[in-house]
Amino acid sequence: AFMLEASEISVLEQRVRETLGIDNCIVVPGNSDTQDWVKQEMGKRCAQLLEKMLHPNCTVAVTGGTTMAALAAAMPPIHTAENVMFVPARGGIGEQVENEANTICAAMAKRAKSQYRLLYVPDPIGEESYQTIIEEPSVKEVLSIINRSDIVIHGIGDAMTMAKRRRTPEPLVEQFKSGVAVSEAFGYYFDAEGNVVHRVRTVGLQLEDLDKAESVIAIAGGASKARAIASYFKLGRNNILVTDEAAANQLIKGE
Ligand code: BG6
Repeated sequence: AFMLEASEISVLEQRVRETLGIDNCIVVPGNSDTQDWVKQEMGKRCAQLLEKMLHPNCTVAVTGGTTMAALAAAMPPIHTAENVMFVPARGGIGEQVENEANTICAAMAKRAKSQYRLLYVPDPIGEESYQTIIEEPSVKEVLSIINRSDIVIHGIGDAMTMAKRRRTPEPLVEQFKSGVAVSEAFGYYFDAEGNVVHRVRTVGLQLEDLDKAESVIAIAGGASKARAIASYFKLGRNNILVTDEAAANQLIKGE
């Protein structure tokens, strides 16, 4: 059922753009929930898009996740822009190491033959440690690069899936179960209207930083993420979505 002609894909892309009110949308055929190669295809298309957007001295902040890992794996060597720098969007947010932003960042920069900086901060951290850690010169320097990233690329998760995948306190998971949180991106949890309902206390990119970026790209697919994608895009923080056919179909139906 998931094999569309190029012309049908561009109709789908157009309709997603209208539904979400964004400038740019790439839809790849298939459903990444059930077909692994679809995630790889999203990664490939996102890498091509990014390559075109890069300019000299540009900083790219990336999150973790399996979809972002597919992007890192598809990143070509960059010959078109000098001094490109990759940074992790945030510190660790309780993910397994292969899903962490630091890992994805280093892998992407390596493939791109670009520079990178990493952020080593335990997570989640208490208020007091947080205040101390952000004053550490080495952390402070990386944070200042992250906070003025030119391009931000991140995954979007279903809130419950992400809460379970991370070491989330049980009371919070219970609260999320009642449907309070629908989507998750870079450690923030959003309700159906796109409002922040919870954030993981960690250093790095803050929601406000997105306003300053030239481009904010979300990469997320699979029918199971349609509601999460719709919720995240409600408050219009991004201008670009890379997704798949299954998610796109649900999105335009408003399901
Ligand atoms: C996380 C990102 O690491 O990956 C989130 O910080 C995102 O922004 C999540 O929600 C998505 O993961 P996946 O594996 O579904 O691509």
